[in-house]
Amino acid sequence: MNLIVIMELLFAMVTGLSFVGCKQKQEASISIKEAYAGKFVVGTALNTQQSSGIDTAAIQVVLHNFNAITAENCMKSEVIHPAKNRYDFSQSDMFVDFGLKNNLFIVGHTLVWHSQTAPWMFVDGKGSYVCRDTLINRMKSHIYTVVGRYKGKVNGWDVVNEAIDDSAGLRNSLWMKIIGSDYIELAFKYAHEADPDAELYLNDYNLYQPGKRNVAIKLAKSIQEKGLRIDAIGEQAHYGLNPNVVTALESSIKAFAETGLKVVITELDVSVLPFPTKKITAEVSLEYENKPGFNPFANAMPDSISLKQSEMYQSLFRLFLKQKNTIERVTFWGVNDEQSWRNDWPIKGRTDYALLFDRDNKPKTCVHELIGIAATDGQKEISFQKN
Ligand code: G3I
Repeated sequence: MNLIVIMELLFAMVTGLSFVGCKQKQEASISIKEAYAGKFVVGTALNTQQSSGIDTAAIQVVLHNFNAITAENCMKSEVIHPAKNRYDFSQSDMFVDFGLKNNLFIVGHTLVWHSQTAPWMFVDGKGSYVCRDTLINRMKSHIYTVVGRYKGKVNGWDVVNEAIDDSAGLRNSLWMKIIGSDYIELAFKYAHEADPDAELYLNDYNLYQPGKRNVAIKLAKSIQEKGLRIDAIGEQAHYGLNPNVVTALESSIKAFAETGLKVVITELDVSVLPFPTKKITAEVSLEYENKPGFNPFANAMPDSISLKQSEMYQSLFRLFLKQKNTIERVTFWGVNDEQSWRNDWPIKGRTDYALLFDRDNKPKTCVHELIGIAATDGQKEISFQKN
């Protein structure tokens, strides 16, 4: 028995910890945000239970591991501006206060989106669609009021969300139908006027796909050419267990960097459940029936799947580290598996395991792996398991 082994045994006897247990404890005490400090900011979306302080267990995870927060729902138009002459800042104020109190980078989500926009926004008193000028004025007033209220407090805004549809055209939303495609640049203009210091993002899903990638670049360039502020393209990153995404994502990140823009990963999660269609999308309006076989891990996630998920997350973080000069922030879409929207989309009532912390707010093994690869700057390669 050499001296080091004897010392380890003595240490274990004194502390009551095995060497392995001690190592795990040491790893757990280093947080994700500390591991990635100097590389990029790591954030999470907060729900109201969390920002109001009710969900104390999740808050501990947030404060230990993340240095940025995004409003999961409380700043969406239907919540914050439910009627023409009525704003409700009760939830968003708590969210912003939570961020300020804890010195976190605060992201407002989202100013202009086709979904969860309060229905009054598009119609007049008789229920007919309003004209272009009216909707522009309503959008301007909404952005001025919301961004203005949090001027100097919210650090960045997802200004326009999901403007590109799955066939890589501009989404034919009511914003588009009533105002026309310049609603996008107008939204950026008004957001910048309301808070000249806030970062502004164009946010969308599946921007690793070449079609959507190219439209996002075109949009960003046209915003830049008009002399308007846009800081980064936001890739939502709602993924499944598909390693091919990582290679395609790298091409998109490089292409975005060529436009002089930064990239923010805004809503990261990795679902482990089967997707009901061949075409993979994150279109929020989709809903499918829960058929046998679609909820395979209702009681627990098997180790083999947990390993695959960890490999997917590791592969993504290796890419993020490789592209750290372009990537400013990586935000997870929720703190723990219980909170994740993936349990209810695109099929309601399933049990998914999409995030880094389980339903008891315990870190998955993957957390240790991600902390580990940060230390080696992502140099060690991993190979994916075959099915
Ligand atoms: O607030 C009501 C509550 O009063 C009611 O009792 C409950 C019953 O179901 O519903 C609650 O509203 C839910 C809301 O989340 C708050 O929990 C809605 O039903 C539910 O549809 C809504 O889902 C949100 C979804 O956006 C809606 O579009 C998810 O939490 C949220 O994670 C998700 O976030 C979006 C991003 O904003 C944009 N990118 C895609 C991402 C995932 O869809």
